[in-house]
Amino acid sequence: MTQAGTIASDHNQVTAGQGRMLQLEIFRFNPADPNSQPHMQVFELEETPGMTLFIALSLIREEQDPSLQFDFVCRAGICGSCGMLIDGRPALACRTLTQSLGSCVRLAPLPIFELIGDLSVNTGKWMRGMSERLQTWVPIPADVDLDSLEQPMEPQLAEQIYELERCIECGCCVSGCGTAIMHEQFVGAVGLNKIARFRLDPRDGRSDADYFELIGTDEGIFGCMSLMGCQDVCPKNLPLQTQLAFLRRKMLIAGVTD
Ligand code: SF4
Ligand code: FES
Repeated sequence: MTQAGTIASDHNQVTAGQGRMLQLEIFRFNPADPNSQPHMQVFELEETPGMTLFIALSLIREEQDPSLQFDFVCRAGICGSCGMLIDGRPALACRTLTQSLGSCVRLAPLPIFELIGDLSVNTGKWMRGMSERLQTWVPIPADVDLDSLEQPMEPQLAEQIYELERCIECGCCVSGCGTAIMHEQFVGAVGLNKIARFRLDPRDGRSDADYFELIGTDEGIFGCMSLMGCQDVCPKNLPLQTQLAFLRRKMLIAGVTD
């Protein structure tokens, strides 16, 4: 397409998004209020060019209902705090353009996580619990020399680790996972991806037998049913399918040879 054609097409998209009235049907419930009952509430607002769901929710909170609860920090798909069910699918509100949706949109909090109120859930508490169970850090030996120079890492390996390190702990993969809905203790793709990340790290002295102790159960890698909802909804496009399949093979070997 010519540059002029691209501009014309972009212009059409923008003008197509102008002036449309949006109806946002939003889950409302405040667990801290004994009088609050779960229900859906409809808000209407006019769509503007480039509007994201984050912008739409902020306008509703500013102009219509200051009690509306939802989370955001970065507004750029980095902090992972604005995950919610958008028309039933886990996604980031700050990275979802309203023009990519119909004029009626249903918003609900991510399932699995503790509800704080309305669209706000406590992913931090869940992530911390998972992290402590899986020990998602590089263990430091008791005799570590804190004055020693850091060892250089091959750029290719650093790239591989960085690819998995891009997880923003938004919780979308957990909310989109059939196993997580059935098994409260399932560590989810986010947890298994972290193990895959530390397994690559040469500073992590743990063996596959050690990792098997952490994830060699139905609450870990063997709970995954390979439905791959996690990869479908991951906003960072992490290669979860490949990592989970690889980890499962390694843990099978570790379990058999243990
Ligand atoms: Fe979010 Fe993807 Fe990380 Fe899951 S793996 S928490 S979907 S960024
Ligand atoms: Fe940070 Fe959406 S506000 S990811």
